[in-house]
Amino acid sequence: MSNLSEQIISDHNKARSLAKEIQSTPLHQTMARQALFDEYKREVKIHALAEERVVYSEIEREQPNQGELAREMSHGEDEHDDINALLEKCDKLNVSDEIFNGTFNRLVDALEHHMQQEEKDLLPELNDAFSDKTLDSLNKRLSEQKESLKNMT
Ligand SMILES: [Fe+2]
Ligand SMILES: [Fe+2]
Repeated sequence: MSNLSEQIISDHNKARSLAKEIQSTPLHQTMARQALFDEYKREVKIHALAEERVVYSEIEREQPNQGELAREMSHGEDEHDDINALLEKCDKLNVSDEIFNGTFNRLVDALEHHMQQEEKDLLPELNDAFSDKTLDSLNKRLSEQKESLKNMT
């Protein structure tokens, strides 16, 4: 597995564990739930945007794998849009309201589906299609992109 895959999977696992924490924090603990959701939202948004700017854009530019990866990537981009829309929807709700949990669970399911697709299909194909040198440079650029997005928000 490349360092790039490891970085992406470790971001995904962070989102998974934050989601579990939110789901196991009782509704009445509003401040704790809000802080967890704010962190979750920020992590997911930064990961998705950095992934698009660095990894997806490289796939689009190089079109390796007879464009198969590019098709998967554009599907992934649509899923990012759906996930962002659900994040905004949750953001407008009260974290201590029952309705929040319903919308948040939909978000967690959509994100899990997306992350699994990246982990099972996109990343192995990416590791085959690009040289070690390219994968290393993508890994570096992805972490730099996340750093600069973190400093901006
Ligand atoms: Fe993604
Ligand atoms: Fe991802």
